[in-house]
Amino acid sequence: MNSPLQTPKGTHDLLPEDFRYLDFVQKTVEKRLKDFGFGRISTPVFEFKDLFVRTSGETADIVEKELYAFASASGKEYALKPEGTAGVVRAYIQHGMHCLPQPVMLYYLEPHFRHDRPQAGRFRQFYQFGFEIIGESDPALDAQAIALAHGIHEDLGIASRLSLQINSLGCAECRTKFSAALQEFYFDKKRSLCETCQTRLEKNPLRLLDCKEEDCHLLASLAPKLSEFICPDCHTHQAQVEEFLDELGISFQKNPTLVRGLDYYTRTVFEFWDEKEGAQNAVGGGGRYDNLIKKLGGPETPALGYAGGIERIISHIKSAQVSLPAENAPQIFLAALGQTAKVYGLKLLEELREAGMRAVGVLGKSSVKAQLKLADRYQTPFTLILGQIELNNDSIIIRNMKKGSQESVRLKEVVKVMKKKLKQ
Ligand code: HAM
Repeated sequence: MNSPLQTPKGTHDLLPEDFRYLDFVQKTVEKRLKDFGFGRISTPVFEFKDLFVRTSGETADIVEKELYAFASASGKEYALKPEGTAGVVRAYIQHGMHCLPQPVMLYYLEPHFRHDRPQAGRFRQFYQFGFEIIGESDPALDAQAIALAHGIHEDLGIASRLSLQINSLGCAECRTKFSAALQEFYFDKKRSLCETCQTRLEKNPLRLLDCKEEDCHLLASLAPKLSEFICPDCHTHQAQVEEFLDELGISFQKNPTLVRGLDYYTRTVFEFWDEKEGAQNAVGGGGRYDNLIKKLGGPETPALGYAGGIERIISHIKSAQVSLPAENAPQIFLAALGQTAKVYGLKLLEELREAGMRAVGVLGKSSVKAQLKLADRYQTPFTLILGQIELNNDSIIIRNMKKGSQESVRLKEVVKVMKKKLKQ
């Protein structure tokens, strides 16, 4: 039943515990990307619907079945963004970025929306990080993009759980010849195809190879192979990408059936799959899209990119039991007992924070027991206890929570003493 007090199907709240993971992923991703020279971009959550139709292609699932489209009161058609490449490419053209030194390297980390059937690892609102390298056709860039994604997985502690699949989809010429061969092959088999594939045959025959229906899948295994139609230039490009990957020590599987679900790809495509589950729930995917910018009305500009699904990455981080850095956890809990101690405590908390320590306390509970219970919850290595007796003596108690030992120090010394203790 739909209840306004529940998140809509396929969406979820991100609670502080979730942000421990999200922050870890974000920091790790941004460190790699910034070291590489990428700049951050954010495009609107919604754009004109036509942008997504023209970018991904009308037969792409994310357009045909999964677009959250809506019309404004004046009848303009918009859609929530199902992926990041369309918006980034639109921004590249809109802001005349072809005049900047090429390649232009942009990254994003944002929620995206697909009206997919929710299941494990498949949501209607999900986070993606992605990067686009626009303005360069050299295969060294393809290898570097793949190495970058692999490096991010290594930093996140999940690289060994993933297998890299790569393929070449060739250029427009290879694809035209291949599409014609497919249409010929399927000419007298059309009735054995599912309804969707019958439409695909006319609009985008390549997508027939991607269908999971049993009959379509069987026919696809007998159909001509794209690799037979790859022209010498595309072949050389792919061979160089593979050579660079070998040099970089990145292992991969050549997968001639990898076509990706979006129409804009040319030449290199790649995905990172779960070692065990395979194609289901890929952690990320990307590839070259050398014709897209021209197709959308910009100058002829080669480009490539990648996007990773953050929920799926986090699920791997959890399964691999990667320990997260605890760098933001509070270090000191201050238990202040009584009104005067609270007033003094607030000042002391500020002094501790200004001296660079992470301190919490004076949280309203009055009894010692309740305050120490709170200190336990924060798992701070130290608790400071300030009551009337301590105030009368101009002192404060420092309790070492791990050792269970405690000592009394002079109030005006406590910031200095704590700084020293935390350094140790
Ligand atoms: P994509 O393969 O459609 O590529 O999505 C990339 C990743 O986003 C997937 O591998 C998956 O991890 C995650 N993802 C996709 N849909 C969902 C969902 N419903 N729930 C959870 N996670 C999901 C793209 O989006 C391209 N724009 C990538 C790209 C960038 N190609 C070139 N540049």
